[in-house]
Amino acid sequence: MNDRMQRLIDRLSQEHALSLGEYEELIAGRTPESAELLAQRAVEAREPIYGKTVFTRGLIEISNICKNDCLYCGIRRSNRNVERYRLEPDVIVACAQEGYELGFRTIVLQGGEDSFFSDEILCGIVSRIVASCPDTAVTLSMGERSRASYELLHEAGATRYLLRHETATREHYERLHPKGMSWDARMQCLYNLREIGYQVGAGFMVGAPFQTNAHLAQEMRFVEEFKPDMCGIGPFIPHHDTPFKDHPAGTLELTCYLLSMIRLIHPPVLLPATTALGTIDARGREKGMQAGANVVMPNLSPVTVRRQYELYDNKICIGDEAAQCRSCLQIRMRNIGYEVVIDRGDIRKTAHTNSVRLCHQE
Ligand code: 5AD
Ligand code: FES
Repeated sequence: MNDRMQRLIDRLSQEHALSLGEYEELIAGRTPESAELLAQRAVEAREPIYGKTVFTRGLIEISNICKNDCLYCGIRRSNRNVERYRLEPDVIVACAQEGYELGFRTIVLQGGEDSFFSDEILCGIVSRIVASCPDTAVTLSMGERSRASYELLHEAGATRYLLRHETATREHYERLHPKGMSWDARMQCLYNLREIGYQVGAGFMVGAPFQTNAHLAQEMRFVEEFKPDMCGIGPFIPHHDTPFKDHPAGTLELTCYLLSMIRLIHPPVLLPATTALGTIDARGREKGMQAGANVVMPNLSPVTVRRQYELYDNKICIGDEAAQCRSCLQIRMRNIGYEVVIDRGDIRKTAHTNSVRLCHQE
């Protein structure tokens, strides 16, 4: 690795920021050596805040019905080959309770933009989960909604919201989405959510069609400025029934590199090693951890519908029961020296390591 790369990595570690040109240089000039050094620095930055603990989020995919038509997504409206489903509120609440019994203290309800889930219905589900799962954070990932809707859901007890911005560049956003979807509206949602008091998760796909290193530099700048509580990044993976079916998938190597950079830019960030990363490489989630991630999101959806929530091809975990998914990840993490904990997994804005209860329940 040349001196220039070394200096950029030193500065990123110390100052948590670079210029746009420097971010781009660090990404474009990457080598196995710079990746290794970045990962080492990312793990060092994570150490005083989270140590080797791994937070889990139990993900329930509540509906694959979506009014949107994002060009990359397998459950886009125009895909006629998807068998559509939505889970009944009682089933969702039961799934959350099962998750609680298994040790999850964060439940994520994720779904397409399905108008069935009105404020009234969703608020009802949220408050039932809050009432039946003590000390559990209810996270929503239900797309763009009005500010008033976000407010009602917050009052009902949802404290976190995941809404990937998908790309920090307006022009790029317009190439990934149909007319009628707007980057400004999406960004406004993120600011609304933060103002209301949610812990906010943003994120983007690595290797999305048309993405350049200059776009990725903008992603780094966005993390530096917005400082999302959580940042979900995973490789783009083509889905055979979408207009992007022939675009290449993002790589493990670049995803891990960016995970390390994001950890250094915003050390307390909650950083998932995503299912998409586990899909492109059998040890993707383990490698994500070793690059600086600290969260995994096992699937809690009923096995009967998992196959239908197919955002991209070859998604993993579609045949496994909720309990299997959790214990599979527990074993995977333990094998690399990490420990899955029973904890809400809130962001830690100040460094401390002594408040985590290790999970020895199995
Ligand atoms: N490949 C990878 N990630 C995808 N997502 C949607 N489609 C794909 C795909 N083909 C991601 C988007 C979305 C999240 C729920 O899943 O970033 O926000
Ligand atoms: Fe789902 Fe391994 S995490 S089977």
